[in-house]
Amino acid sequence: MKKLVFLTGAGMSAESGIPTFRDADGLWENYSIEEICTHDAWLRQPALLLDFYNMLRRKFMDCKPNEGHRLVAQLEERYDVQVITQNIDNLHEQAGSHKVLHLHGEMMKCRADGRDTGVHYPLDPKNPDIHMGDTDANGVQLRPHIVFFQEDVPNLEQAAYLVSEADILVVIGTSLNVYPAAGLLQYARKDIPVYLIDPKPISYPYRAFTQIQKGAGEGMKELIALL
Ligand code: APR
Repeated sequence: MKKLVFLTGAGMSAESGIPTFRDADGLWENYSIEEICTHDAWLRQPALLLDFYNMLRRKFMDCKPNEGHRLVAQLEERYDVQVITQNIDNLHEQAGSHKVLHLHGEMMKCRADGRDTGVHYPLDPKNPDIHMGDTDANGVQLRPHIVFFQEDVPNLEQAAYLVSEADILVVIGTSLNVYPAAGLLQYARKDIPVYLIDPKPISYPYRAFTQIQKGAGEGMKELIALL
């Protein structure tokens, strides 16, 4: 089976009701990255960040996969599909995708504070909040399993390898603003087709691609007709 690799961003979940980051009503229009999404902010005000992500997590938990997520999952009937996502929601998994690699963490997981050792704990949907004083077995404070700015992207090497193996690469719903994720396109073999689904024209000077200028759901329908 041909290897079909997806690189998805916040736009993939926009039609599920999850705001993107840099659109008009985006998260970074209403909150400052420096205040709630950097390693320094975590060190400076952990309780505020725990409360913020507790609130955001409860919002995410009400959202469901959209047509775009479902069509990505359905392509597993015809391709060896690998999803690489910048999103911390689990809507790809809920839609039925079996191979999903998260670059920026997962909202429904937590881990011990400090360097990410790869040990992550699932949060109970019935009691998903993390509070100061919640610790792991070694007494270390628990934190959201989210990669803040200024922190390493633990799965980057594996993601680069998966992109380098792709026979087709499809990018959906990312402004390609944030590295190292945006740099993954450069690991794709020169001879493979690259498609980009986004309602806004996206410029990415380092690699030729075919843009389908639609939202995730409609864009995936057009893509499937092209494959
Ligand atoms: N379908 C597809 N794409 C859409 C839709 C939609 N319905 N609506 C908006 N988009 C596109 C926007 O045009 C934009 O190009 O989704 C993209 C979202 O870009 P960003 O908001 O920058 O989100 P993303 O690229 O995922 O951000 C990358 O930045 O803040 C960090 O860690 C955070 O993972 C995030 C990273």
